Amino acid sequence: MAKAELVFQPYGKRLEVEAGRTVLEVARHIGVSVSSVCGGRGLCGKCKIIVQDGESHLSAPTKAERQALSREDLKNGFRLACQAVVKGIGTITVEVPSESRVDQQKLLLKGLERKVELAPAIRRLTLSLDKPSLADAKSDVDRLVEAANSATGFKLKVDHEALKQIPHVIRKGDWTVTVTLWKNGEITAAEPGETHGLYGFAVDVGTTKLAGYLVDLVNGKIAATASMMNPQIPYGEDVISRIKFIMENPDNIAKLQQSVVEGVNQLIREACMKAKTTPANICDITVAGNTAMHHIFLGVPPNYVALMPYPAALQSSVDVKARDLALDVGYGAYVYTLPIVSGFVGGDAVADVLATGINMADELSMLIDIGTNTEIVLGNKDRLVACSCASGPAFEGAHIKHGMRASSGAIEQVWVDPETFEVGFKTVEDDKPRGLCGSGIVDVVAQLLKTGLIDRSGRLSRKVDTPRLKANAKAAEFVVAWKDETSVGNDIAVTQGDIREIQLAKAAIYTGASILMKKFGVKAYDVQRVFLAGAFGTYVDPQNAKIIGMYPDVPLERVHFIGNTAGSGARMTLLSVDARKTASDIARRVEYVELGADPDFQSEFLKATYLPHQESERFQSVSRLLGKAARAS
Ligand code: FES
Repeated sequence: MAKAELVFQPYGKRLEVEAGRTVLEVARHIGVSVSSVCGGRGLCGKCKIIVQDGESHLSAPTKAERQALSREDLKNGFRLACQAVVKGIGTITVEVPSESRVDQQKLLLKGLERKVELAPAIRRLTLSLDKPSLADAKSDVDRLVEAANSATGFKLKVDHEALKQIPHVIRKGDWTVTVTLWKNGEITAAEPGETHGLYGFAVDVGTTKLAGYLVDLVNGKIAATASMMNPQIPYGEDVISRIKFIMENPDNIAKLQQSVVEGVNQLIREACMKAKTTPANICDITVAGNTAMHHIFLGVPPNYVALMPYPAALQSSVDVKARDLALDVGYGAYVYTLPIVSGFVGGDAVADVLATGINMADELSMLIDIGTNTEIVLGNKDRLVACSCASGPAFEGAHIKHGMRASSGAIEQVWVDPETFEVGFKTVEDDKPRGLCGSGIVDVVAQLLKTGLIDRSGRLSRKVDTPRLKANAKAAEFVVAWKDETSVGNDIAVTQGDIREIQLAKAAIYTGASILMKKFGVKAYDVQRVFLAGAFGTYVDPQNAKIIGMYPDVPLERVHFIGNTAGSGARMTLLSVDARKTASDIARRVEYVELGADPDFQSEFLKATYLPHQESERFQSVSRLLGKAARAS
């Protein structure tokens, strides 16, 4: 069949394709990352491409495109990659504009971590075996297992792949052999002679990023780290889009699983290269991820997580052979996945609790891991309650007109002069601005509130006289960066719609926190520590986040940034089997609170959409601050 040729610029990548495929499908196929927040359903408008040539070989613009793109955009060749279908024979050249590219995000690897005693699930044991003789012609495997049993006092079984290696290995080592023992129950590998060096790999499988840590299990230190964007992103940027993709076709779970496994293999190779070792020396892997990521990683369908009453397919921790998941490490290695709490509170939240130790503390702590789904855990050594809030992807820049992830050129900090309304900003890597990431948008909203450019309902003022405020009867926006300051050829502004998105997102988080406090029978002042986890929770200005009412009004000195604690928790379970027991205990102990089932949920949410809150007495310190700012202006 005659085919069309699709060329992607500025990458210069090209592919011959049959008619009927969307440009987004082809982009995914050849590894061109195009932003696709809604997973290709024509809803987010983020997958813009510009057709440079061969327009007639594409389908006509759809209704979704006419809604998402202005007439002028359409005239200038803009299309949505998920809507434009290849139809004719000929060459089509499309450009992926910078706003649609999924670039390397500022990825966070470090996180708070409690010290644990080094007692991993694996250890090495060197054995000297008696050579067989006519008087003692015992089998090779029996000889080795008997020696190992008598040295350890355990009754060990042998991995099937290890079985195949043993006859050669013991002869190669002249009857000295080093075995790897897993949980004192299984010989997972055998090597000739006396070998040293034992590595494990801990992975945080996030919706957006993968973070990997190669750990030397002899001294417990991190030998190397590696991180990357989650390669599943082209299939949808949030978990719901990916679950919907899986629901469309039962074969799709294999595609997603394969892509994440390939990503983890890449991290393993990179980290091993940095540490001058090889993946074959990795004998144990631990994985923390939210429930959907965890299920997909294991190849377990996450379909029902998205359907009422949102049950997880499995909750307990799992030990599975790495080779069964196509992970390229030592042949007998196991993968341990942290247990999960519920459909929307996953192993990453369990890892957060493990790393902070709030489950063992006397003080009452609130842990907020901000993401598309924000998990909140409130508690102490006596009780733990948790919920998941649908905060949406606004803090990751989605659903925001000029929103983007925290990659190069993203405006991440903003200041507004209260008198002149002039703006100062800082971008990621000090590049020319391309858009606003979550921390930048929070700064803008807080600053607009402080300077009186928006009121407590979030409405942009029509009265203040500044060229940065552009308003007419239908729409209003505040310009953060003028066209000539940016690299995208247009003003970067925060619109009234963007402010609403931020209000909804922060209201979702605050509502979760306030319902958990109600369940616990405490007030904001009783919360002695607030831990903000995750990348957004690390880069956001805590004062500005409080000004908009994202978390309860506690003194700033009680707020702690803890970084990527999901990675830290995964590492702790690699270092210690006791930490695995604690993780199971945490998952069992956490009382999951379904926010939607709480009778106060709707009214709490509505009140929380105000800035910082409709009931100003809940945010007394912010009210004082706003009062002071108003008097000063
Ligand atoms: S509109 Fe195309 S991916 Fe969302």
